[in-house]
Formats: sequence, structure tokens, C-alpha cells
Amino acid sequence: MAKSENIVWHESKVTKKHRQQLNNHKSAVIWFTGLSGSGKSTISVELEKELHSMGVCTYRLDGDNIRHGLNKNLGFSPEDRQENIRRIGEVSKLMVDAGLFTLSAFISPYREDRDEVRKLVEDGEFIEVFVDASVETCESRDPKGLYKKARAGEIKGFTGIDAPYEAPVNPEITVDTDNLSLEESVEAIVTYLKKKGYLE
Ligand code: PPS
Repeated sequence: MAKSENIVWHESKVTKKHRQQLNNHKSAVIWFTGLSGSGKSTISVELEKELHSMGVCTYRLDGDNIRHGLNKNLGFSPEDRQENIRRIGEVSKLMVDAGLFTLSAFISPYREDRDEVRKLVEDGEFIEVFVDASVETCESRDPKGLYKKARAGEIKGFTGIDAPYEAPVNPEITVDTDNLSLEESVEAIVTYLKKKGYLE
């Protein structure tokens, strides 16, 4: 890929701080990582609804949706997944700069790729949520029938079956969806956001 040259950063007069003041809250990326079927999308949808009802400005980025547009030229090789997460990381950073709580829900199977996103934003602006469910649970849910296809060899390189998933070592939040209900998972995240002063 060609590198950009001769480009100069142009400062705005309205900054992230101004936008946060107008919104009356901080901004950050809430990064959901976990296996397919672990509950990332379901929890992020419900959490966004909850935050919205509290008057918090949000935007949700989701694997399947982003792969319909911005990242439709990417597949599921390790290199493509890395580029997928790199781009989403940059978009998430823009959204945080725009003053939003950004809910990014991607398998994001590689620790290093997630850590690169963490480095893109300021301290405290990356909240990693490990949506923890065993492969057995995810496979029994199989909402899109993808595990079945992977087991039948119709999908190659499926996360958790024949492609790796590297669980976070020290996530800000873990929601164990083998045992927690949807409401309990959302509540755990809202409680964390309040306790850490992200929300009043
Ligand atoms: S990644 O690994 O972060 O780049 O993946 P992501 O962008 O989140 O996309 C995951 C969704 O793509 C579907 N899908 C697959 N997932 C895993 N492995 C393979 N090979 C694959 N092929 C298609 C699947 O619907 C994932 O959605 P979720 O919501 O995670 O179930």
C-alpha cells in the first residue's frame, strides 16, 4: 500500500473537549471482543439503547455491518482481519473525537490488533469488554448456522473451530454470557461506566 507523503495535520477550532462539554459527558470506545455467537452484537445493541435513554450520545459499529461497506473488500485471513480491526480502530478513534460513546463489536481475535487500537486513543478511552462464552455454548446457539457450516468444512478458518481466538489478558470488563442474562451483562457495563466516572 502506498504511503501518504507531504501531508500536514490541520487543527480544528472546535475540539473533542468542546464536543464533550456540549454533550455533557466524556467519550470513549467500548470494544466488545469474543467468539461468533458469544453475544457481542446483542449486548451492544441493548447497551446502546440503555445509554441513549440516559441521554448519552452513541454510535455502534458491528462486524457484519461494516463488512457490508467500508470493509467489504476484506475476508477472514489473519492479514485481512488485522486490516479490518486497524480500520475500525481508526474509525472508532474518529467517533471518540466526535464526542461519542462508540460501541465497537468485532470478534477481533488477535490480542495484538486490539492492543494497537488501545494505543490509538488516549488513556482511559478504550474499554475492552470480553464477551466470554465457551465454543460449546456459541456452537449450541449457532444463530446464523455458521458453526454447522464450519464443522461441515463449508467455511474454512472459522474462529474457534479452525482459526484462533486470543482471549484478553486484562480486559476492563468481562461478561460471562454462559451464565449472565442479557440484562445482567448490560447492567455490569453501565455499573462500570458509572463507577469509573464515565457517566454520572
Ligand atoms: S474479525 O475476526 O474481527 O475480523 O471478524 P468480524 O469483522 O467481527 O466479523 C465476524 C462476522 O463474520 C461472520 N463470519 C465469520 N466469523 C469468523 N470466522 C469466519 N471465518 C467467518 N466468516 C464469516 C460471522 O457472522 C461473524 O459475526 P458474529 O457477529 O461475530 O457472529
